[in-house]
Amino acid sequence: MVDLEALISKMSLEEKVLQLLQTTGELYNPDESGKLMGNMFGIEIDDYMAWNAGSVLGLEGAEAAIRLQNEHMEKSAHKIPLMFMHDVIHGYRTIFPAPLALACSWQPELAEKASLIAAKEASAAGTHVTFAPMADLSRDARWGRVIESFGEDVMLNSLFSEASVRGFQGDDPKEKDQLAACVKHFAGYGMAEGGRDYNTTEISENALREYHLPTYKAALNAGSKMVMTAFNALNGVPCTGNKWLFGDILRGEWEFDGVVISDCTAIGELVLHGFADDNDEAALKALKAGVDIEMVSTTYYRGVKSLIEQGLLSEDEIDTAVMRVLQFKETLGLFDNPHKGADPKLEEQLLLCREHRDAARNIATECMVLLKNESVLPLRKSDKKIAIVGNYADNKDILDIWRCTGKPEDCISVAEGLQGKLEFNAINGCSDEALELVRASDVIILAIGETPEMSAEAGSRASIELPEEEKRFTESVLQLGKQVIAVVFAGRPMDLGMLNEKANAILYVWFPGTEGGNAIADILLGEKEPSGRLTISFPVSTGQCPIYYNALPTGRPTESLEESTRFRTGYVDAPTFPRYPFGYGLTYTDFTYSAAELSKDTLCKGESITASITLANTGKRPGTEVVQLYIRDMAGSVSRPIRELKDFTRVKLNVGEKRAISFEITEEMLRFYTLSGEYKSEPGRFKVFIGENAHCENSAEFRLFI
Ligand code: BGC
Repeated sequence: MVDLEALISKMSLEEKVLQLLQTTGELYNPDESGKLMGNMFGIEIDDYMAWNAGSVLGLEGAEAAIRLQNEHMEKSAHKIPLMFMHDVIHGYRTIFPAPLALACSWQPELAEKASLIAAKEASAAGTHVTFAPMADLSRDARWGRVIESFGEDVMLNSLFSEASVRGFQGDDPKEKDQLAACVKHFAGYGMAEGGRDYNTTEISENALREYHLPTYKAALNAGSKMVMTAFNALNGVPCTGNKWLFGDILRGEWEFDGVVISDCTAIGELVLHGFADDNDEAALKALKAGVDIEMVSTTYYRGVKSLIEQGLLSEDEIDTAVMRVLQFKETLGLFDNPHKGADPKLEEQLLLCREHRDAARNIATECMVLLKNESVLPLRKSDKKIAIVGNYADNKDILDIWRCTGKPEDCISVAEGLQGKLEFNAINGCSDEALELVRASDVIILAIGETPEMSAEAGSRASIELPEEEKRFTESVLQLGKQVIAVVFAGRPMDLGMLNEKANAILYVWFPGTEGGNAIADILLGEKEPSGRLTISFPVSTGQCPIYYNALPTGRPTESLEESTRFRTGYVDAPTFPRYPFGYGLTYTDFTYSAAELSKDTLCKGESITASITLANTGKRPGTEVVQLYIRDMAGSVSRPIRELKDFTRVKLNVGEKRAISFEITEEMLRFYTLSGEYKSEPGRFKVFIGENAHCENSAEFRLFI
């Protein structure tokens, strides 16, 4: 064990502040004269700073990590190992479906497995810490980062955040094959106004506590070692300098004693937010809020000395932040073994190994959502002529922006996935030639969607429709009256326009990861049953954004799913309800629910009610239903959402099989932040819904007495 206090006492102020600086991996590529490049993101860094910095962002590969760590241990003043951090979001080299897709499996254990494999690969490649999970609840399909979130529900979001942390960290992030997790972006980043990335957010404290904070807290409860600040301002105060968020809530109420890192260059950006007059004030505000590591910008390094001289900051405050960083290094075991899991041989063996690819394929089949099927899927062997067309027909670039070290050439395209399993002709793209092929064929697999650049960070869109070229092509294809099976790649819920009415089937595959094409083939051919369910609502059109299932009621509710009548909440030119609701997804079979029943119609504190249904597979194939329990509190000191997901279970039934399904309802499940800000339940009437998605009408009522 290193005596960290003794170590800190030997460090100069400058050396201490450099522990709080995170540089980038590219910086360490020397120029011809052997000097480091001296510049990251346009910020000047000299060799002294680079060799004494505390951590590095985005270095890739075991050899590079070992080389850099060795050189650092030689050149740095106190031989304090560097921490290597990276965005290992949903895979390191073997890429799994993007987080939103993972959530659509409704199986947190799959996110855990994906994170575990990602941790193994990344650790062997020299990474110590991942900037994941992103626990930001998101409701606006325009926001590009919905693809990195788990969707619009606080319960699912929490379950998936927790599971990801468990996968990344295992029992101990010190283990050679585990990473430390960093939950981000604290807090409320997903609520960017207008869905425009980095934009401001206004979230009442009750809403923040009810829908947003629990998701970050869940990751911390699972042991996440680090927290990242968010770019946005929250109710006027930029998160990266927000003392209330980090001081009062994170470190106060939640007693988090780990490291907080700023988002990339976010401390310097406090000036642009109009929250600090200059970089020094920005540094002061971030430090006072409790932000330890400054990612990439250098306001701490340049400002701390003078802030201390002016008496605005004490050296003790710096020591506290440095101590947290050193303790983190200790937690990772770096003082004993600065290379941790970095191992070029193991890296070579593990990255993209068969086992990891198989896991990516299996998991991807669980994440795709079948939005429509007029009995055309699964594809049957026949003598019909099959064509695969569209920009994703034979396109290997099927990874979203957070692909880490994943590469298109590692991926399986749709045509490759179907190769040898089906007779077909494929033309990639939306050309006249592709349309000719459509004319000459009977069944069309139309593989289309957004490009990866249209979502993820800084990938917000003002229109969530198909890109123009694809829209035109789709219309031309649909006009030919062929059987059309759309396979849609996307980083968000999209407005699929005519496809909704005219395609015969729609399989939504998000960005499915390295094994995408194989997984798509498994589903199209019926070797796997589709079982994904949406964890984010699909708007009818962009104008409905943001739309989410657990909205508050209005005094003028819309009664019908199809139409909005005047003087009811809604639009004169669009329906009020989403195209596909939260929880929605089809299978290749049919399920029937019996009427929802409650074991009693009153509930007192300490008791529970059993809510039950019988589920039957009345279709022609086995299948998995995700049975969902929603509750509505009919009246409260503040209005309560029209539905809230409270529980769910995945049930696999064979043809003709029936099963009784029950859920326990307790008083704790009915608690919320009341008008006075207390977290408690209020007596009154509650409606319980059990069904296949957030629009199910199978309900029963009870009263709560407390
Ligand atoms: C993103 C973070 C990410 C960081 C480091 C930022 O721009 O907002 O989510 O972890 O970059 O790459």
